[in-house]
Amino acid sequence: MTDTPQETLANLLTETRRFDPPPALAATANVTAEAYEQASADRLGFWEQAARRLHWGTDWEQTLDWTNPPFAKWFIGGKLNVAYNCLDRHVEAGNGDRVAIYWEGEPAGDERVVTYAELLTEVKKAANALTDLGVVAGDRVAIYLPMIPEAAVAMLACARIGATHNVVFGGFSVDALSGRINDATAKVVITADGGYRRGKPSALKPTVDESVALAPSVEKVLVVRRTGEDVAWTDKDVWWHDAVGGASEDHEAQDFDAEHPLFILYTSGTTAKPKGILHTTGGYLTQASYTHHAVFDLKPESDVYWCTADIGWVTGHSYIVYGPLSNGATQVMYEGTPDTPHRGRFWEIVEKYKVTLLYTAPTAIRTFAKWGDDIPAKFDLSSLRILGSVGEPINPEAWIWYRDNIGSGKTPIVDTWWQTETGAMMISPLPGVTSTKPGSAQRPLPGIAADVVDDEGNSVPNGGGGYLVLREPWPSMLRTIWGDDQRFIDTYWSKFDAMYFAGDGAKRDDDGDIWLLGRVDDVMLVSGHNISTTEVESALVSHPKVAESAVVGATDPITGQGIVAFVILRGSVEPDDGLTTELRNHVAAKLGPIAKPRQIMLVPELPKTRSGKIMRRLLRDVAEHRSLGDVTTLQDSAVMDLISQGMDKGK
Ligand code: WT7
Repeated sequence: MTDTPQETLANLLTETRRFDPPPALAATANVTAEAYEQASADRLGFWEQAARRLHWGTDWEQTLDWTNPPFAKWFIGGKLNVAYNCLDRHVEAGNGDRVAIYWEGEPAGDERVVTYAELLTEVKKAANALTDLGVVAGDRVAIYLPMIPEAAVAMLACARIGATHNVVFGGFSVDALSGRINDATAKVVITADGGYRRGKPSALKPTVDESVALAPSVEKVLVVRRTGEDVAWTDKDVWWHDAVGGASEDHEAQDFDAEHPLFILYTSGTTAKPKGILHTTGGYLTQASYTHHAVFDLKPESDVYWCTADIGWVTGHSYIVYGPLSNGATQVMYEGTPDTPHRGRFWEIVEKYKVTLLYTAPTAIRTFAKWGDDIPAKFDLSSLRILGSVGEPINPEAWIWYRDNIGSGKTPIVDTWWQTETGAMMISPLPGVTSTKPGSAQRPLPGIAADVVDDEGNSVPNGGGGYLVLREPWPSMLRTIWGDDQRFIDTYWSKFDAMYFAGDGAKRDDDGDIWLLGRVDDVMLVSGHNISTTEVESALVSHPKVAESAVVGATDPITGQGIVAFVILRGSVEPDDGLTTELRNHVAAKLGPIAKPRQIMLVPELPKTRSGKIMRRLLRDVAEHRSLGDVTTLQDSAVMDLISQGMDKGK
């Protein structure tokens, strides 16, 4: 981790546009400004009230135990069942016929509609099947599935019997999968023959077979038939349709302690060993559920919600499975990619299901902008009433594009900052309350103590920049790194005394609103000034010819670091000789001469992790003409060849 010198992080980009909540939304919003007051008057009381939105078999005796920091316990003595909260109670309340999942497979016409009653039955059967396979409370179960309803069923079945799930993204390799299975010592793996990706079946089972051969803890592999392609079969393998299909539909959910481990999810580290982030039961579900209700203003009777993330990321855990289902939401789940079979697929899905609440990532939004405004314009998107963003800072121009082209220029945008480690949203506008600002996540949610501090850990004044920290424990916080308490302490709790260090740079503007500036490791030091990669990227994206950009600091003999920008042009733009100069001058005009890139490279693609984050480490290697490190976590490793070739030409 680079230690940032004394000066504050850059505070260059100014943004004056404001968008008030639509009055009709504000008038009926689930959460009003009062929530902030309530939470600041009585933070624990506020979270107790949020926890009351769930069904508890046994009440808690104490809300928070923080006597042994950084190891928090929430709702001590309380007992509940997560699956009961997500399913049984809605069915018992008479909502069994409500659609839980509109599932849209990638191949056109491949669709399923699953009601709450049907989902409950499936989960009960899967819970019985897992029990028959020898899984008991506390065991770990690895899940390696495509985006099919069985992924949610598998997670909920684990939760129902108290098994701790460890979902691994279906695109990961044998190394990644076997490493995670071994670290968690999983007893059972749930997978499928394959899934559909870009119009073709894509096998999963061979990766599982190789991984299981390297993972002695695995006793059984439960295999969903999705593509119907031939698979090799071992004596550990059991078909889902046999084991779950033949299981009893009767299963009574048993309550588990509020601190019972619900899941482990490995952060997609690019260099170091992945960290197994551990989340527990009561606090996690409380915050996932409350934030989904508050930030999406979910009205379960009328909304159709769609989160486009994969279930293999924390966004899929908290905002496809646990948040929405605990709130009785009707949601869309989509198996495939946004450009299969055509670039309007997302908008076709919004139109088809009349989606009202959409949650996606800046990387997707910038891609849609690059593909052109005419594509979403062909579809009826008038059902949408709130748009969400997560995963990276959203550049102000991408934010405006999203609002104008997807949200008809009317919908509030909720830019939600959080992490695998935080388990649920932490900083976000509230759609019925906040006057939003393009590019800023703005304000900690009620009950969350986020702050921006300097190197000494002092809060910075308005206008200042520094590090994002969390000053108080929150219900859905990670409890530790699985099997490595010391690493948990070292990574998050050692930079500052008694504060959680998130690893993100941030600034606070003159209104006190928070702007996320990207990972601290990515901040550049140019002639003694800290400059955020995010701000230079946003300045570039604000130029009408630029679709996307990634900025890195490359070693420079004169300035310490020089700014190198990789730029993707918008679809129809043809580069001319003066373009890179024009772009450099544009950045200088927006941010000041200090931020003017030393070099601009026009590239066809950017290297991204599979969860859509730009891998600046690789771009730094290219900019400094180093040989490339490991590229296996890249979404498409051929991208780096293209970029390196272009760089050589540009020398
Ligand atoms: C990192 C966490 C949160 C679920 C998906 C990512 C970045 C996330 C935002 C946002 C600016 C954001 C941060 C954070 N990030 N959301 N709204 N604005 N940055 O989870 O893979 O654990 O990544 O994503 O850098 O630390 P993750």
